[in-house]
Amino acid sequence: MAVHLVEHPLVQDTLLVLRNAQTGAAVFRRMARRISVLLAAEALRDLPTVPSRVATPMGEAEGRRIGADVVVVPVLRSGLGMLDAVLELLPSARVGHIGLQRDEATAVASQYYAKLPNGLAGSYVLMIDPMLATGGSAAAALDVLERAGAREIRILCIVAAPEGIALVERRFPDVRIYTPVIDRGLDDRKFIVPGLGDFGDRLYGTL
Ligand code: URA
Repeated sequence: MAVHLVEHPLVQDTLLVLRNAQTGAAVFRRMARRISVLLAAEALRDLPTVPSRVATPMGEAEGRRIGADVVVVPVLRSGLGMLDAVLELLPSARVGHIGLQRDEATAVASQYYAKLPNGLAGSYVLMIDPMLATGGSAAAALDVLERAGAREIRILCIVAAPEGIALVERRFPDVRIYTPVIDRGLDDRKFIVPGLGDFGDRLYGTL
């Protein structure tokens, strides 16, 4: 199953604050960060670890450290609202950027920027794109990642629509999607309903 529904109570509670039209930019940013930390932790639950030791003030302790290269790829611009949260968990993760712009009239995504780290084939790639709506921009970004050699790709989103999930599942059956919710569908402007509105506009106050 490609979709992992993240039903943790803290995730669900935070999602409702993000959905609320009364939530202003300052709180929206804080909540976007909080939900992203929780989603990233869930998406990285099976990250490989390696044995390690440290000296505590009382003696030697055995433990485990992260044993994999993780690359985080925000899809610009709204994915940037999730980036700091993921880097808080993985401060040395490498970061790629993919810039996609959605035509307001047709909802078709076109790429205007891509800069990715080398050697993606051996990395865990976390693509962060908060609103999985038609799936058009996610698919365009996944094309870029696969062409660059990425094999183990996970998408973190905050709200998903059935249309976007279906497209990703059909075109990229190996990609896992982590989302707190699958909403009803899309309106005629291809916004998610009930969704939370335009994520980028709410994050950056460009309403
Ligand atoms: N992008 C958004 O920010 N919101 C939607 O509902 C769909 C795409």
